[in-house]
Formats: sequence, structure tokens, C-alpha cells
Amino acid sequence: MSMIHEGAEPRVQRPERTGTARSVLMCRPEHFTVVYRINPWMDPQSPTDTALAVRQWEQLRRVYTDLGFDVQLIDPIPGLPDMVYAANGGFVIDNIAYGASFTYAERQPEGPAYMDWFRAEGFEVAVPENINEGEGDFLLVGDTILAGTGFRSATASHAELARISGRDVVSLSLVDPNFYHLDTALSVLDSTPGREHIAYLPGAFDEPSLAVLRERYPDAILVNDEDASVLGLNSFSDGYNVVIASRATDFERQLREHGYNPIGVDLSELLLGGGGVKCCTLELRR
Ligand code: ARG
Repeated sequence: MSMIHEGAEPRVQRPERTGTARSVLMCRPEHFTVVYRINPWMDPQSPTDTALAVRQWEQLRRVYTDLGFDVQLIDPIPGLPDMVYAANGGFVIDNIAYGASFTYAERQPEGPAYMDWFRAEGFEVAVPENINEGEGDFLLVGDTILAGTGFRSATASHAELARISGRDVVSLSLVDPNFYHLDTALSVLDSTPGREHIAYLPGAFDEPSLAVLRERYPDAILVNDEDASVLGLNSFSDGYNVVIASRATDFERQLREHGYNPIGVDLSELLLGGGGVKCCTLELRR
């Protein structure tokens, strides 16, 4: 005989969210400008305002310190205007820093600069054999690393990182040049094993990759084109607080519905280089 419990109140599933303060690396955009074009957002003809970029970036840094994050800084190097996008400087897990090897010559010197910083800070550096742009294309979700390819990081780097990290690495193919790094198309909201939760822009992926995402993350938040086009997905979550582009209003609404606390920031100047919140943030996992 089976028991039927009648009249039970329907349960509203509003998951409990918990924020865990993170340790991150950032680079002040003192030399930020757009003088070359390596993604569709960049137009060397339109003027940039470095002082405004610094002010907006300082606002992001303040949000992080107010959240109790440990914010580390790497010195910006003159002539490397994209160095502000610290996410591309490597991928750090278990105190191992897998170094970046940039696709375009303009950014190549950033790889060794970030590796020097990791070494000086006591991380074990794995010098990369393959082209990869760090956390721009590698995102940790639970015990799995989601890895982007198509525009920047080579698939061979996915296997290399699997070897170095001992984690499963799942390759995802990006197809829209506006969303050339995985972190422009997909956001990790909760990375806690067993509670993995992400958001993504379906149109940024090829069909086989979409099938993988649907299967692994059936409850993912799907973000619309409008919010993705202000790099709304390029956000950083501590598991509860999600720092996002303030213009991504529908994503903000969906985050609230899912029990998160979205915090909007305006990085309009850094958007001119094709980057947002996440691009300016490299997580340091000791
Ligand atoms: N101008 C930079 C580039 O094209 C922007 C990098 C953005 N970083 C990111 N993690 N999506 O390389």
C-alpha cells in the first residue's frame, strides 16, 4: 500500500543561496585604450576615456572589497591596454596557475607577465604548451571545468588543463564572434558541487554544445540577446551576490527570482574593449 499525503502545501522552490568571499586578481586600467581590433566590440577609431575606465573599474573593486573579497592587484604594463582583462591571465586551481598563451600578438606579452606574478605570489606555474586565454575560456562549475573554443583557446589546451588540474574538462564550441570567450556567453552562478547553477546565451553555442549544456544544467537561466549584448553574462558570483552589468535588467530580474542578490555596475568604458565584470576578474583558488 502506498501512502498518499493529501492537502500538502505546494512547495515553492526558492533555493537557499550562500555567498563565499572570494580571492581575486585585478589590474587597474591605467593604460587602457583601444588601438587595435581583435574582437568585434573594438573600434580603434572611437575615442576612449582612460580616466573614466579607471573610475568605473575602481567602483567594481569597491563592490568586491565591500563583499569581503580579497582583491589582489597586478601592476599594469604600458603598451598592454588589454591587461585590465585579468581573467585572461591564467586559470588557477589548487594553487596551480595554468598560464595563458594569447591568440593575438598584441596580447602575447601578458602571458609571461601574469606568470611572473603567480610565481612571486607562491603559485605553482604550469607554463602552457597550447594557445589559451585563461578564465576567459575556462570556468569551474563544481568539479568540472567548462572550456570554450572556436575563437581563442585551442581545444588542445582543454586536454592540457585536464591533465594539469586532474578535473574533467568539457569542451564547448562558440559560434558568434561577439561572444568570443566562454565568459561572455556563460556565467557560473553557483559552483558548489551538487548545487551547480549557470546562466548562458543559447545562440552563442553550436548544437552539440547546447545539447551538453541542456543535459548537464536543465535548470540553467537562459539570458536574452539584449542582456547578452551589454555583456550581462560577463558577471561574477560568490554563490549569492552576483556582480553584473547594470544594464542587463532582465537577467537581473531572473537572478532575483532564483534567490540571488544581483549587484549592478557600469563598466561602459571597458565594454569598448569587449570586456565586462568577469573579464576584469581572475579567481585565485589556493
Ligand atoms: N580586448 C580583449 C580581447 O579581445 C577583451 C578580453 C575580454 N576578456 C574576457 N575574459 N572575455 O582579448
